[in-house]
Amino acid sequence: LCRRLAQTADVVGVSRHAPSRDLAGRHVICDLLDPRRTRDVVHEIQPALVIHAQAMSDVDRCEREPKEAQAYNVQATKHLVDALPRSGDHCWLFSVSTDYVFDGTKGRSYVEDDVSNPISVYGRTKLEGERVALDYARSIILRPSTLYGPDRMNYCNHVADQLQAGQGVEAFVDQTTSPTYTEDVAEAIADLSDVIVPHETRGADTPRIMHLSNTGACTRLAFAHRIADLLGQPRELIRPIRMAEQQRSAPRPAYSALAGTALARTIGRTMRPWEEALQTYLGVRHPSMR
Ligand SMILES: NC(=O)c1ccc[n+]([C@@H]2O[C@H](COP(=O)([O-])OP(=O)(O)OC[C@H]3O[C@@H](n4cnc5c(N)ncnc54)[C@H](OP(=O)(O)O)[C@@H]3O)[C@@H](O)[C@H]2O)c1
Repeated sequence: LCRRLAQTADVVGVSRHAPSRDLAGRHVICDLLDPRRTRDVVHEIQPALVIHAQAMSDVDRCEREPKEAQAYNVQATKHLVDALPRSGDHCWLFSVSTDYVFDGTKGRSYVEDDVSNPISVYGRTKLEGERVALDYARSIILRPSTLYGPDRMNYCNHVADQLQAGQGVEAFVDQTTSPTYTEDVAEAIADLSDVIVPHETRGADTPRIMHLSNTGACTRLAFAHRIADLLGQPRELIRPIRMAEQQRSAPRPAYSALAGTALARTIGRTMRPWEEALQTYLGVRHPSMR
């Protein structure tokens, strides 16, 4: 986000640790669990837009440590919302949520109007965080699904690394999501900020909730197969398993792929299909593939 947004805006990254490598724009250390520090930082920066992407997103850890999950996914959001200006300077809030607010029983992609019904501590605390963010009038909830991209370990990078090393990897046959490339999320958020931030107040057609995923849906197994095909590695290294075969603390929705109309209505385009985004990412990560 910092890299992409710094191309057109004055960007300040906020987190508890200094970035491990140079990011575009400035960086400020702030723990959102500290309400006073959060307020001071917001007052100092006077942002026109806050993109709230902080969370405790380790789904199993949330299940084991529900108090921490509540603090990181709800209280931190509250501290941020309380620090935003209510009058005078206008400021927008884009608050990042998740497909795990759904229970996964619909059997088709969820749209923005669908009723949420989380089945894990992570999903429940993220939904509560959404409600806190929605208390702020100039807020929009952005929900991506299964993120992958550079700079951070994720399922895509894990599968690619294992396959490149000739090692086996497990993939769920019974979990379907919309894998989403972080660079595409950053691009969509940049377009969104161009459209939304110039307005002082929300219009009648400004969405409150927006799904922000690459289009389409696939099982983890289909995703892993596509990675293998693109890298020229044998599919045989991928072992299909069911979610119940892995000892995990938290349940996952069986089908939490996302669709919706809010993004296209607002910026005039959807995000590209997941297969195309994956091909682009692996081409960048493994240039020999091209
Ligand atoms: N990962 C996925 O597949 C996925 C899927 C759907 C939605 N999401 C949502 O997308 C967002 C980003 O998720 P992620 O998985 O990319 O998270 P992540 O890698 O854990 O990144 C979280 C960021 O928040 C910062 N942070 C954590 N606690 C903080 C605190 N108390 N105060 C200030 N900064 C803090 C972290 O930096 P420091 O450690 O330096 O503070 C880090 O930069 C979350 O809202 C998540 O719920 C993720």
